[in-house]
Amino acid sequence: MTANNGAFVICDDLYKIFKVAEIEVMALQGLDLTVKKGELVGVVGASGSGKTTLMNVLGGLARPSAGQVIIDGKNLLKLSTRELTAYRQIEVGFVWQQGSRNLIPYLSALDNIKLPMTLAGAAGRHNDQRARELMDLVDLSHRYDHRPIQLSGGEQQRVAIAVALANEPKLLLADEPTGELDSATSDQVYDLFKRLNRDLGLTICIVSHDPDIKEHVSRVIAIRDGKLASETVRRQRKSVSLRAPGHEPAPDDLWEDHFEELIVLDSAGRLQIPKQFREELGFENRVEMEVAEDSILIRPARNLDDTSSQGEIQLEREIRADDNGTRASLLNRLRRK
Ligand SMILES: Nc1ncnc2c1ncn2[C@@H]1O[C@H](COP(=O)(O)OP(=O)(O)OP(=O)(O)O)[C@@H](O)[C@H]1O
Ligand SMILES: [Mg+2]
Repeated sequence: MTANNGAFVICDDLYKIFKVAEIEVMALQGLDLTVKKGELVGVVGASGSGKTTLMNVLGGLARPSAGQVIIDGKNLLKLSTRELTAYRQIEVGFVWQQGSRNLIPYLSALDNIKLPMTLAGAAGRHNDQRARELMDLVDLSHRYDHRPIQLSGGEQQRVAIAVALANEPKLLLADEPTGELDSATSDQVYDLFKRLNRDLGLTICIVSHDPDIKEHVSRVIAIRDGKLASETVRRQRKSVSLRAPGHEPAPDDLWEDHFEELIVLDSAGRLQIPKQFREELGFENRVEMEVAEDSILIRPARNLDDTSSQGEIQLEREIRADDNGTRASLLNRLRRK
């Protein structure tokens, strides 16, 4: 079943809290995300912003602490452990940054690809045939019997992609797949993702630190502090040469791609104002808002006095009172905000 409006991935108000030695880390803090079927999406964000956590949640490797995750109409939180294992094995494919995490070192490329099929219960000659087809698909027909150590970094990642596709998943998740590759080899890996997306209709999410990721995908989402902060979309506009006076453009010059960064407004009306803007304009923790004809003006609050911080003080008191118990009521309060 396909989820509503062609949305293949829906994350609604997602929280993930890790607890280490009594200290809680909120890796995801009310993240909303929608990915359409057949989309190729890039995910960027500073280290520690929650990208890998999001991939793990989408891949059924981690259960969120609160919120909803619906993939292809399936609510992951409602799946039993057995159903979740089947989801991980068959419906989603992973590619990680480190080759060692993707591939078993003592198995040949073909055997690495056959392994997930065997684990999912498929056996026989069909597996061998499919493994060869997948090696051909990633342009490695000449490397069937090579072990990972006998492959270059780019080749290893292409085998890793073939492994991830072994059980014909509908969703491919890649966590910094080009993190250890030079830029020419990274481009080859991105080209492969684009081809798989176009030819197989695969929905793909690629986490990257590479600022050029936007050149390779249709949309880039930026995560900040465990929330979706902004989205960069590819748009078309009249080419510069068309606008240059006296220049007669060739027909192909008429339109060109450009990128626009849009700030995400979540379902509760929250948005993140980029730090650079806040610093430049002297925004602190209170702002004034004014509705204009077709826009909203936000400016630093003037004449701040003590009363404006009363709510904050009260919330801090409540959090402190909560320290002995669980974080649940804090979460509830955050979600009501
Ligand atoms: N298993 C875990 N136990 C405790 N804390 C964790 C765990 N996994 C992640 N975290 C914490 O959650 C936050 C988000 O981590 P995550 O790995 O998702 O970030 P990231 O955006 O992938 O960073 P990077 O770009 O460095 O890979 C970090 O503060 C991290 O320390
Ligand atoms: Mg990470």
